[in-house]
Amino acid sequence: VQIVLAGILVAGIARLVVADELAVDWTLRPNPQSSSETPAERGKYLFQVACAICHGAGTDRPGTSSLQIKYQGKLPAQLEQRTDLTPELVTAFVRNGIAMMPPFRKTELSDDQVAAIAAYLSRRR
Ligand code: HEC
Repeated sequence: VQIVLAGILVAGIARLVVADELAVDWTLRPNPQSSSETPAERGKYLFQVACAICHGAGTDRPGTSSLQIKYQGKLPAQLEQRTDLTPELVTAFVRNGIAMMPPFRKTELSDDQVAAIAAYLSRRR
């Protein structure tokens, strides 16, 4: 009986370990090679991960397309080409969202990560 119980225990632990490995982890992590980078450099990486899907180059990006319509060429449609963005403005849009842009919660992008993205997008000021 003890051997059977021990066997069940081992099988249970093994299943827990396997289940753990299979679980998908969606946490955004800083680039492992980025420990010596400035906030703006980390922000550039985070922008590619969290924002470029909508704000990258191309007509199939809803953020870029919307800003093209909004500004009619008076300001660049791509956020990375803007020179008028302030950290405060970027942070407000990221935390509150607008139209089809979702608000990003602190569990999705930490304050540090938003600050890094804001530093990147306002770097030319
Ligand atoms: C699901 C698509 C989507 C994602 C992801 C997204 N955005 Fe947006 N964003 C939009 C859209 C669409 C607009 C324009 C809304 C409008 O018509 O005014 C916008 C607008 C903005 C604006 C306002 C610009 C202006 O001049 O009005 C900022 C700043 C911004 N986004 C920053 C970001 C940042 C930083 C990220 C990443 C953390 C991000 N967005 C992720 C879709 C997205």
